[in-house]
Amino acid sequence: MKNTKPYLWCLLAIALGTLYACQHEPILPDPNEIDDAPYALVVPAGFPMPDIPPDNALTNVRVAMGKLLFFDPILSRDATISCASCHFPDRAFSDTIAISPGVEQRLGVRNAMPLFNVAYHPNLMREGGVPTLEMQVLAPISDHFEMDFNLVDAAERLAQDPNYADLSQRAYGRPPDPYVITRALAAFERVLLSGNSAYDRYNNGQSNALSPQALQRQRIIPIVRLRPLS
Ligand code: HEC
Repeated sequence: MKNTKPYLWCLLAIALGTLYACQHEPILPDPNEIDDAPYALVVPAGFPMPDIPPDNALTNVRVAMGKLLFFDPILSRDATISCASCHFPDRAFSDTIAISPGVEQRLGVRNAMPLFNVAYHPNLMREGGVPTLEMQVLAPISDHFEMDFNLVDAAERLAQDPNYADLSQRAYGRPPDPYVITRALAAFERVLLSGNSAYDRYNNGQSNALSPQALQRQRIIPIVRLRPLS
């Protein structure tokens, strides 16, 4: 190339690199800017309101605490693996590889499941043996191949952190114990709603959202509405 200006390429590379890094950085809440007002859950068109357990009503501070915990490796034995190490927000809260490594690069036997719309699942995990999101939190924290820790030690660790100690009091009126850890993570997971896929748009009346080929191949059958569209 005749007029190659290496510094321009450098600048472009830095700009693209920054953009890439930014895309993959989660935007985490600032504990000082969170209030304890009820969380304004936006339910996608055509979706019913998910069931929220009475002891874990959604509030801004609960959801924010859950989000911080979800992205924090503090809940794993050696503080290297967070929930987001396997459930990537930019990959539908799943992973692109078959088996996501846990602590010490240990490999389990199953694929990390996506977490969007998990608020609607009556049973969790592949066997469906876990009835609530609160209970499910126990599984990855204690699994030898995932975080290999336990809730009691995790709670002690969190209590040493002034930010979590303060958030926990504001969110649940108690120190960051197993009750709080399981509830805050579940609160965050309940707000991961997604309802704008091509399939959703087709269901909501946009007949060209799916190509004729997609319709033919998938034999799309519109879902039965639980509630009419408002
Ligand atoms: C090392 C990877 C890994 C880590 C870390 C991990 N998960 Fe998972 N997650 C998985 C795998 C694999 C499954 C499927 C498990 C099964 O079916 O037995 C799963 C399943 C789930 C499910 C069930 C979803 C459904 O539709 O039934 C939820 C909810 C979940 N994880 C939340 C979390 C939370 C919260 C954390 C952090 C406390 C976490 N996971 C940490 C790999 C991981």
